[in-house]
Amino acid sequence: MKTQRVLTGITTSGTPHLGNYVGAIRPTVRASRLAEVESFYFLADYHALIKVGEPARVQRSTLEIAATWLACGLDPEKVTFYRQSDIPEIPELTWLLTCVTGKGILNRAHAYKASVDKNNAAGEDPDAGVTAGLFMYPVLMAADILMFNAHQVPVGRDQIQHIEMARDMASSFNHLYGEHFTLPEAVTEDHVALLPGLDGRKMSKSYDNTIPLFVPREQLRKLIMGIVTDSRTPGEPKSTEGSALFQLYQAFASAEETSALAKSFADGIAWGDAKQTLFERLDREIAPLREVYDQLIQDPARIEKTLKAGADKARAIATPFTARLREAVGLRRLDSVVSTTTKTAKSAAPAFKQYRETDGLFYFKLVDAGGQLLLQSTGFASGKDAAGAIARLQQQGSQALEGLQAQLTTQAEPAALAQALAHFAPDKA
Ligand code: TRP
Repeated sequence: MKTQRVLTGITTSGTPHLGNYVGAIRPTVRASRLAEVESFYFLADYHALIKVGEPARVQRSTLEIAATWLACGLDPEKVTFYRQSDIPEIPELTWLLTCVTGKGILNRAHAYKASVDKNNAAGEDPDAGVTAGLFMYPVLMAADILMFNAHQVPVGRDQIQHIEMARDMASSFNHLYGEHFTLPEAVTEDHVALLPGLDGRKMSKSYDNTIPLFVPREQLRKLIMGIVTDSRTPGEPKSTEGSALFQLYQAFASAEETSALAKSFADGIAWGDAKQTLFERLDREIAPLREVYDQLIQDPARIEKTLKAGADKARAIATPFTARLREAVGLRRLDSVVSTTTKTAKSAAPAFKQYRETDGLFYFKLVDAGGQLLLQSTGFASGKDAAGAIARLQQQGSQALEGLQAQLTTQAEPAALAQALAHFAPDKA
């Protein structure tokens, strides 16, 4: 089976809290360590612009979320960890997809519909206060996913519709222009605990009941002491059922620890003591991560470097793939126009030519559809070596160029090369 590509994005509009940690960060970091997956995680900062109008908050959230994922053990050597806005190919693909997406489909997107319903209920114009950014949200998200041909997209239940829309867009594009995109599937974790917040309702920024993941130890204790409980006095048996405190404990503790706390509940533990137990258990897991986080957040330049390196990795895929998509839709160089008089299919394609010179060495060159020279090699000792270099270029496209620098004398500009090389590796990405 082909290595599964897993991709997910995190909108950079807030500060990570315990609910994000238990529901997304912890399971995702664990999954990213499995050998058989190739993971892509990115900071969805273009998406953040849809809801956040404060530049400093977008920047701060980007820093905090990047530091959080790294502190929680995401290994940027093993996964591709990048920032959406470092990949200019994403907005470019957004446009290509926009042009194959029915407006009616976007009308039915939950987030947009919710805004329209609210306006209608208030007797306002249906689109009052709705930006085209909110309307286009699903297309940007589809571009994120389809650019890397992800097979699986781990998301919350509220995002399933967006993945279905991405599939629709991929199918429409493939139907029109050929098989370029993998159809992605949403992966939702049914058994992942929905953490309650301080007031017992689901932990969520919109309820203002969150416990931030990396507050200082003392502040964490204070917040935990503020979790709502019932009014049972010390010595009175307490119910674990519906207890936010108990559920939070369960999300961090082992099965034995959890049943020990259940027993203490039945034995009438004082709420203050139960909170202290929860605090200590939480802090045991979080403290070592917090230490790394605090160091990282002091060193934004290091995080910036990590993200830039991630962007390079991502663009090694996105740049040649976009060249291939541009070619597919007809955004092409004019010197590759197929002449209607010389309509042999062969002359319309770029080609490698291998030959031997009088010096006894083996050479190759790459010419484009119009016969223009794109690459010229130096002499190779054997025909096999020259053929090997050609094979690498055909299989890896532009990515192979760096390793071959010493064997190349002429090189056309990168976009033209990427376009021509994309021709040989139609199944890449
Ligand atoms: N919309 C997602 C959310 O709010 C974030 C996101 C943006 C995303 N692009 C994505 C998730 C691509 C998965 C894949 O949670």
